[in-house]
Amino acid sequence: MNPTIDLLNAHRSVRAFAAKPVPTDHLRAAIGAGQMASTSSAVQSYCAINITDADTRREIAELSGGQAYVESAPLFLLFCADSRRHRIACEESNTAYNTRLEAFLVGAIDVALFAQNVAVAFESLGYGICFIGGIRNDLPRLDALLDIPDGVYPLYGMCVGTPAHPQPSPLRPRLPLESVLMHGRYQNDDTMREHLHAYDETYRDYLRARGEPEHQVAQAWTERMAKYYGNPRRKDVAAYFASKGAGLD
Ligand SMILES: Cc1cc2nc3c(=O)[nH]c(=O)nc-3n(C[C@H](O)[C@H](O)[C@H](O)COP(=O)(O)O)c2cc1C
Repeated sequence: MNPTIDLLNAHRSVRAFAAKPVPTDHLRAAIGAGQMASTSSAVQSYCAINITDADTRREIAELSGGQAYVESAPLFLLFCADSRRHRIACEESNTAYNTRLEAFLVGAIDVALFAQNVAVAFESLGYGICFIGGIRNDLPRLDALLDIPDGVYPLYGMCVGTPAHPQPSPLRPRLPLESVLMHGRYQNDDTMREHLHAYDETYRDYLRARGEPEHQVAQAWTERMAKYYGNPRRKDVAAYFASKGAGLD
């Protein structure tokens, strides 16, 4: 339709990278483009920390569940919702910082918009990216590694680099558009079920094309989601974020 939409439609996560550094001007261009994302009331509640130290990278790769590409990616950015500067602004005006859960939510929204713009900017420069939510496996350990101040909430990382394989992997298909774009009111569960069953078939075809073993292929998207949501995950994140001042408790 146009080059921007074509670029967005060509997205796939990249998890293997060539040993080629990302020049500083590309990093700065991507972050600058990220900063131009919409932001709630211009609060700009985010930051990205470029993790340059090799030992720190190794530890983050380990605590993220042994994701080797966290260590080997030419660039690894840690994205945080960030209320630090607003706390400082309050201090400077002798005002008590008084917004907590809503500020956390605003930060989580703002940093997602920022990070997605950064991702698209990198992809437009020919890089591949992969978000890393695995960093939330052990936030206290990450905190101790990086000495993260109160009011700063690490949410995910991003690996960036030139894809190791010039042949791109197949695109991961998304839900039918009709199950995401609704008109007038929320669609009923029967309609949703029809979309999910159709998507299960599409997803199985995708897994087969990727060469997944048949027992994996048999488990379509719906079953995967039941597994994913049927078990409590990362139960200690709320306590960690509360301890940093998010007011979730
Ligand atoms: C917030 C977030 C966290 C993610 N965490 C990880 C991760 O820890 N490891 C990983 O390999 N991929 C991770 N991903 C990538 C997703 O698995 C991927 O985007 C999704 O399966 C869709 O595939 P695609 O990006 O190739 O289209 C994450 C994506 C997002 C948005």
